[in-house]
Amino acid sequence: MTQYAVRKSSDVENFMTSVERVMTYTKLDPESGYNVGRRPPEQWPSEGNITFQDVSLTYYPGGPQVLRKINLNIKGGAKIGVAGRTGAGKSSFVAALLRMPDTDGEIMVDGVKIKKINLQQARRCISVLGQSPVLFSGSLRKNLDLVERFQDADLWRVLEDVQLIDLVEGLEGQLDHELLEHGANVSVGERQLICLARVLLQQNKIIVLDEPTAHVDPQTEQTMWSVVREKLKGSTVITIAHRLNTIRDCDKILVFKEGEVTEFDTFDMLLSGIDSVLYGPSLRPDNNEQ
Ligand SMILES: Nc1ncnc2c1ncn2[C@@H]1O[C@H](COP(=O)(O)OP(=O)(O)OP(=O)(O)O)[C@@H](O)[C@H]1O
Ligand SMILES: [Mg+2]
Repeated sequence: MTQYAVRKSSDVENFMTSVERVMTYTKLDPESGYNVGRRPPEQWPSEGNITFQDVSLTYYPGGPQVLRKINLNIKGGAKIGVAGRTGAGKSSFVAALLRMPDTDGEIMVDGVKIKKINLQQARRCISVLGQSPVLFSGSLRKNLDLVERFQDADLWRVLEDVQLIDLVEGLEGQLDHELLEHGANVSVGERQLICLARVLLQQNKIIVLDEPTAHVDPQTEQTMWSVVREKLKGSTVITIAHRLNTIRDCDKILVFKEGEVTEFDTFDMLLSGIDSVLYGPSLRPDNNEQ
């Protein structure tokens, strides 16, 4: 009886940690922008033009400026490669676009100031494929299409595009196969491909790829890039990469250094400029280490 009581009381104490965590969450300041009623125009964004005007970003009040006065124009449909040393501000550039947190200065997508519209609406127009794949516990169908907007045929089509069709056909329940939390019952590369399939399905006008091929073999990497090139023709694709070979096909390369944009031009132009970072030996494309 005593043993049982001790065991139960320690269980209660353990589980109460979750309650404590939830209580802390309720005290956090909510993100501003959820309550903004203003919606973007119908069919927005239609082109995917992105404009940054004097954009600066700090992660917390009084913190260091991680992005400093960024001014740039990205044309709709362009394929942009983002390069720079670790800590230069590449991921922060994406965070600014997603309003995590809100920035100083204006970011406009197709002429609409994203700070002025509802936060969820603003985020909905951007797909992000990150370094580590994000999957939920639930069926494969839910993982691809959370709000069940699409038909089965569409789901199968994107699975075919990312060459997962054989895998899914062999799964129990196929599209209704239950994935464990974080996709624990599929390999890391497969998780990445499922996330890519999700991006293809949404067909958003703005797509951000933050080193998504970090965990896949070279052949799968090739497949992923060719799928991105062919299937996302109409979208603005921003690719963050540590290897120059990954982004050499991009229309323009954006180079960050200590929170500032130091270069923004075509790959060939940057490679020919003596002052360019790309010209430096450590970043030459024939040096595969970089
Ligand atoms: N959530 C955060 N809170 C506070 N500072 C942050 C946060 N995230 C990043 N930083 C800081 O912002 C700076 C830029 O970081 P960022 O993540 O944008 O670098 P990065 O260019 O993406 O680097 P990597 O190539 O390693 O991914 C760094 O100095 C980092 O310490
Ligand atoms: Mg980063």
